[in-house]
Order: sequence, then C-alpha cells, then structure tokens
Amino acid sequence: MSNENSRISSALFGELPDGQKITRYTLENKSGASVEILDLGGIIVSLNVPDRDGKLNDIVLGLDDPAQYLNESPYFGAIVGRYANRIAKGKFSLEGTDYSLAVNNGPNALHGGLVGFDKKIWNVEPFEGADHAGLSLTMVSEDGEEGYPGTLKVNVSYKLDDDNNLTINYKASTDKTTVINLSQHTYFNLNGHNSGNILDHEVFLNAASFTPVDENLIPTGEIVAVENTPMDFRQAKTIGRDIGVENEQLDVGGGYDHNWVLDRQDMENMELAATVYEPTSGRFMEIMTDQPAIQFYTGNFLDGTVSGKAGYNYQYRGGLCLETQHFPDSPNQVNFPSTVLKAGEEYNTTTIFNFSVK
Ligand code: GLA
Repeated sequence: MSNENSRISSALFGELPDGQKITRYTLENKSGASVEILDLGGIIVSLNVPDRDGKLNDIVLGLDDPAQYLNESPYFGAIVGRYANRIAKGKFSLEGTDYSLAVNNGPNALHGGLVGFDKKIWNVEPFEGADHAGLSLTMVSEDGEEGYPGTLKVNVSYKLDDDNNLTINYKASTDKTTVINLSQHTYFNLNGHNSGNILDHEVFLNAASFTPVDENLIPTGEIVAVENTPMDFRQAKTIGRDIGVENEQLDVGGGYDHNWVLDRQDMENMELAATVYEPTSGRFMEIMTDQPAIQFYTGNFLDGTVSGKAGYNYQYRGGLCLETQHFPDSPNQVNFPSTVLKAGEEYNTTTIFNFSVK
C-alpha cells in the first residue's frame, strides 16, 4: 500500500493475546508531521509535530503492546463510544423502554461499556489528496451491544493536512432510536509524551459555564457560571494555577474532570472551543468543533503504574484530555441538549485539532 510518494504507510503494530493482528497506519504531511493510528479502537498511538525550533516530538501518551490497550489503558488515544463519558447507574429510558447498560465505572457506565468502541477492531480505508492523507474507519455495533438499542453503523475519519490540522469526522446511523455521543480520548503533553506533568500548560476554554458533578462524577443537572471560580479558563491560564485551590468541584474531580458548556454563536458551524500552549516547546494547539461541550480532564487518575511507550511510566497529571462532546448523562437529563439518534437520521460531527507554535 505504501509507495515512495504516498503520505500513508502501514505496518504490523502487534498481536492481541488471541492472535489477532493489529495494524498501525502512519499519515504524514509535507512538513514531516505525522500521526499513527491503529485499527484497534481507532487509537492515536503517536502524533509528531514541530516545536518552535522545528524539532518533531511525540506529544500523545500511548502504549507499545496492543494487549495493554485492552487491559490497562485509561482510553489513551481512543475513539470513545457509543456514549463518551458517564451515564448514571448505566440506566436510561427512551420512548417508554428502560435500558440497562454494562456498569464499568463505580455505579456508572463510562465510555461505552466493557467493550466500547476503543476496544473494537475497525475496518480501515486509507485516502489521500494533494494536501492531505486520511483514514476512514468503519464499524457496526450490533443492536443490544453493551445494552444500547439499535444497530449502529459508525464511520470515523481522520485527516492530516499540510497545515497541521488533524480533522476528525464522526458519522453514524441507526435502525432504532438510540443515544450517541462519540469523542476522542487522546492525552496530550505538548512538551513530549515523556516529559512529566502538564501543570505548566496554558489552557483557554471558550466557556462561561460548566456542569457541576456529584461524588460519582455525574452532573447534578445545573449549569453554573465559571466566573470567580477555578473553572474559569476564559483568559488562558496555567493548569497549575488554580488546580490546588480549595473547591468542592476540584475535590470531587481530583482536579479538573468536568464538562464545560461552550459559548457558541450557533449550534452548527465549527467554532473555537479550546487552546493549549506549552511555553518550553512553544507548541500551540487549537480545537475547533461543532459540538456543544468539552470535557477537560487533567490525568488525575494517572499514577505511574502503566508502562507507556518506550518504557516511560506516565505520572500523575502526565497528560490532558480535551474531549469534544455532548454533556455527560444527557439521556437522563431533560434540560441538556439531546443525544437521541433516530432511524433515518444521520449523526455527523467534526472536531479539528490544529498544531502550530508561538
Ligand atoms: C474520562 C473521565 C475521567 C476518567 C478518564 C479515563 O475523561 O472523565 O474521569 O475516567 O476518562 O481514565
């Protein structure tokens, strides 16, 4: 599949314990930036982008052995679904029917269940054009899988272009009314995946409010202003600045692990959701999306026990996630934007991660 001029190559990444072979695809652009993606979980295993001196470095946390992605990964780099984030007690009802999901996170369903989309092997079709290379990943999630109704046909595409945009498009359709919330769970450390914690990263979130959570990280249903709280990222600030202040929400999250409600001009177009700047490397990441919200998670559950790429153990707060999404637990919260998808409708959403330097 690879030829000299191709921006795409593929190789064996490894084998699962049952012998299934996992393929790694590499997309490269003209400046040499590259992203590596697996057919397993659509997982981004590496992302190399330049620093302010032009030096490429891998800025995403990941694992070397595919079996680790099944057993011990905190969703490093993965596509999460059917329902990214939490659904309280794994229960909801839809059109008069009660549904019970696999519960895999304390009392709750998290990120699609026991075998979520992060653990599926996807079909992969590469594509390329004059200024980009991409992968189209498809998968069918059966009716009743992990307790969710409806046969869901999913198509996620990744595209890396010459302007260092990594564009992710998610499409899905169902044969029965269901709920859906797809996201991408990459952990970033813009100074390099193996360079300690992310407390010096400067974050901007285009959000005047967030959804507070209870002790199980389930939204209480309120939408609360960030003003005069540590949740206010409307002026870029370092993650470390307020993460340690006395605050009930930071206590329950163990740091930042919340859903911010994006300030949107309209609910359709791509708008700026967040930026991250890392001062040592000069790397700057901008996130554009058409989604209503973003989960900002500061790696509070990382504890140095997972052996990451090249034997590096990812420490407490060694990476940050910015997961564009609908609000957590929407199927149980009438005042949140709907996550219902009906037969005949198309779910279609896009998020762009752009990488530059300052
Ligand atoms: C999400 C959640 C976190 C945590 C991670 C995975 O982002 O919000 O609480 O569960 O996934 O470790």
